[in-house]
Amino acid sequence: MCGIVAAVAQRNVQGILLEGLKRLEYRGYDSAGMTVFNGRELTRHRAVGKVAALSRKLDTAALPGTSGIAHTRWATHGKPSEANAHPHHSGEQVAVVHNGIIENYETIKDQLQASGYHFSSETDTEVITHLLAEKLDSGLSLFDATQQIVNGLGGAYALAVISPQAPGVVIGARQGSPLVVGVGIDEAFLASDPLALLPVTDRFIYLEEGDLVELSEQGAIRIVDCDGNDVERPIQTFEHGDGAASKGDYRHYMLKEIYEQPEVIRAALEGRLSDDHVLVESFGPDAQAIFQTTKQIHIIACGTSYHAGLVARYWLERYAGIPVQVEVASEYRYRYPVVPEGTLFVTLSQSGETADTLAALRYAKQLNYIGTLAICNVPGSSLVRESDVTLMTRAGPEIGVASTKAFTTQLIGLMLLTLSISRVHGGHQHHADIVSALKALPALCQQVLALDPAIEVLSEAFAEKHHALFLGRGAHFPVALEGALKLKEISYIHAEAYPAGELKHGPLALVDADMPVISVAPNDDLLEKLKSNLQEVRARGGQLFVFADEQVGIEERDDIRVLRLPHIHEALTPLLYTLPLQLLSYHVAVLKGTDVDQPRNLAKSVTVE
Ligand code: G6P
Repeated sequence: MCGIVAAVAQRNVQGILLEGLKRLEYRGYDSAGMTVFNGRELTRHRAVGKVAALSRKLDTAALPGTSGIAHTRWATHGKPSEANAHPHHSGEQVAVVHNGIIENYETIKDQLQASGYHFSSETDTEVITHLLAEKLDSGLSLFDATQQIVNGLGGAYALAVISPQAPGVVIGARQGSPLVVGVGIDEAFLASDPLALLPVTDRFIYLEEGDLVELSEQGAIRIVDCDGNDVERPIQTFEHGDGAASKGDYRHYMLKEIYEQPEVIRAALEGRLSDDHVLVESFGPDAQAIFQTTKQIHIIACGTSYHAGLVARYWLERYAGIPVQVEVASEYRYRYPVVPEGTLFVTLSQSGETADTLAALRYAKQLNYIGTLAICNVPGSSLVRESDVTLMTRAGPEIGVASTKAFTTQLIGLMLLTLSISRVHGGHQHHADIVSALKALPALCQQVLALDPAIEVLSEAFAEKHHALFLGRGAHFPVALEGALKLKEISYIHAEAYPAGELKHGPLALVDADMPVISVAPNDDLLEKLKSNLQEVRARGGQLFVFADEQVGIEERDDIRVLRLPHIHEALTPLLYTLPLQLLSYHVAVLKGTDVDQPRNLAKSVTVE
């Protein structure tokens, strides 16, 4: 989950690398560095903290040169420090940036130390630099040296390498971590994410697992696959406009992305609905056959995407009659899951590169699933390329580390899945109503966003709190989980979510005047039960914040603050009720002065285990 950017051109590359790093900062931001080859030697700057700290060093002493590599780090091995920041060098010979984890680095380090190599960092990456130096000393070219050493690396990596022994050349390699080639005119680039390179190109080659690539001056690109054969990979044009990657008039990316939800929900539905049903072909030509044989579903995801999966369980069981299991990928991949006949494997991921989710997919492919479906936001991502059937969520680039529009568009994808499977199995009940509610959803989301000023006022009650409890019932329990996750991620307030009916089995003991309790109360068949749970909170002196349907009779009192939401078909309430919780977390974080878009210790795309 670090970010890599590399370039070889016939112009100075420092600016390209620096802009690339700024765009990759969402992947990690505890330190950054850059090495440029100036025609004679490798020159390097590294700095602890955000890319801005590196930028200041470059202002003082520029690094001119036509080939270079750069990195923004999210620490795994060794604390954030200048010595641990990338690029790592082996003497004057070679410079490396790395994303991923080399699991066998200790063994390799012992061997290298025994051969006399001196280590100047605590990182796993540094072994790669000395391994390369050893091979270069034996007379191999930089390309051959990299090809030989990657075979001995266990774990996951994306690498970019330069050396004065190969002027005008950048080598890249990927295994388990994302890396794309940016195709320029007489120049070529590498990055962990195409977003990094949009100022210089919109044409990309998505490397496959085990690929090794050589970029040279004049933009020549040579790719060799894991068997050592020269291969051609297709060049794809990037779909999202670059405007999506800027903050526009918003103070934070997160706020912009929250406000984009009506528009991206509309995009996620476009061309996928008829008058009264979902077009199953939205999932591609093979979907019909796979859905026909689907008797149950296993959904695997991480973080916010996992919460989307939990909502979908309620939908798929209720509206499609399909039993569903939902599990976090890091648990699933190390279990011995029983896969009943006719089970479809579904992954959810914003990035399509989350290491645990990807590993779970690869594991699932060895089991007897009838097929694999990825619901994902990034076309060309590993998850998309490796799944049988895919649905793009069309949220556009999401930069804020705390996921917002990616979540709601995943829910759209999951509702489309629910109705598609139901339809393929001959179901039609509720379809027309839900389809017309989906069409009305963007406008209702807009109405909810108009409540923002009132939510901002509400947020003042949280800024001084240390804990918060979120309650929901049915499909709104995962909405509560997502609300709690948002609050803890960006405001660092300890927040927990419970199914409201479970309150009396433990968390009620925590309720007092210092514990705000947030609840979502749509007008569904669990409303009366939820109201009783809320009384349990009031009776203990708790302060309640209720997001309620305009038609439910929950009145505002001293100890209950109520925010009324427009009425919507009950199938879609999890979507609508997510928005005020996102806004609440946002405003609490702004009041607390935390880093909203890049909260401490977190990264947007977790490409390490
Ligand atoms: C990280 C991000 C979360 C995200 C999770 C899963 O933890 O900070 O926002 O939900 O990864 O990522 P994915 O890309 O697979 O949805």
